[in-house]
Amino acid sequence: MSRTQPWRRRLDAIQSVGRTRVLRTVTPTGPVTGVVDGQDVLLACSNDYLGLAWAPTVRHAAQGGGAGGSRLISGSRPIHQALEMHLEELFGRPALLFPSGYSANLAVFSTVCEAGDLLVSDALNHASIIDGIRLSKAHRQVVPHAEPHQIPQGARLVAVEGLFSMDGDTPVFADYPKTPWLAVDEAHAVGCLGPNGTGVAAAQGVQPDILIGTFGKAYGASGAFVVGSQDLKELLINAGRSFIYTTALPDPIAAMALAGVHAATDALREKLSLNATRLRDGLHTNGWSVLGQHHIIPVVVGPSAMDLSQRLLQQGILAPGIRYPTVPIGQERIRFTVSAEHTEADIDQIIAAMDSPNSS
Ligand SMILES: Cc1ncc(COP(=O)(O)O)c(C=O)c1O
Repeated sequence: MSRTQPWRRRLDAIQSVGRTRVLRTVTPTGPVTGVVDGQDVLLACSNDYLGLAWAPTVRHAAQGGGAGGSRLISGSRPIHQALEMHLEELFGRPALLFPSGYSANLAVFSTVCEAGDLLVSDALNHASIIDGIRLSKAHRQVVPHAEPHQIPQGARLVAVEGLFSMDGDTPVFADYPKTPWLAVDEAHAVGCLGPNGTGVAAAQGVQPDILIGTFGKAYGASGAFVVGSQDLKELLINAGRSFIYTTALPDPIAAMALAGVHAATDALREKLSLNATRLRDGLHTNGWSVLGQHHIIPVVVGPSAMDLSQRLLQQGILAPGIRYPTVPIGQERIRFTVSAEHTEADIDQIIAAMDSPNSS
């Protein structure tokens, strides 16, 4: 028996239920275009919502090298300080950088609650929130999606996303209890929604106790940040294991992130919103039922999602099917995302390719 036979057995089990994941190389040729397997494609699935990953100001900002250590050893650089100070001005409270949204969520949700606390999580929260919660010593309870009245009395912390990544909807924060701490992962909202792009909670006049944002989506770079009180920042520096025990964000990435935050303007947000409305309306007119609001535009089609995605690719549109375990069985979907850089003709091309549910 080969040494890796157990791994092959597990891979075979994944394959036997048709859930093998494979990597696909996308060579970018513009903010919303690329080449996949020699074919030109229009990207309809990128999280680069404002097109900033292609913007010269962001690309040319990259300078320097790796940080060479964790923030607490030798890796805290002037660019980290500059970026944190700028975020503090933008969000009005102290900010702490992380190498990724995944590591930010691990640190926050594993650290802030103690044994005996009750930590409540929306059923559709991202895997990084779930994994952080799994590392917490607190009691945990998952409540059905968007049903804040089900949050039990005595909860210490409630975790939600600002713009849910798979359903594209937003919490109504007025319906949430005021006593528990509120942690909002605004990964898909910062840069795009709310005053100066500060997120969905801010758009509703709510200041969460903990806000998690990422640079890898609208800001066109990579990495993440947590905003909250000075005590939260110091707690994460002292007890957040995925902050303490990891190499700091590389200087070029931090510089790109800072340029991305500067480049995220109201004009781009306005264009993003117009494009989202155009695609939503067009799909709706074609007879599709579309979830959520804003720039994440999920079309739930069930098990045929992978076939539909393949047909879109044949028409030059990249929009992979999303399936279990990312979404529940039976709710497989095409998750379209728009960018401020899509033209009206790009959006109309996607609408034309999604002609009618009856032909799928
Ligand atoms: C809601 C949410 N939180 C966190 C993350 C993780 O962010 P990152 O890609 O920076 O690790 C993602 C990534 O897709 C996400 O969708």
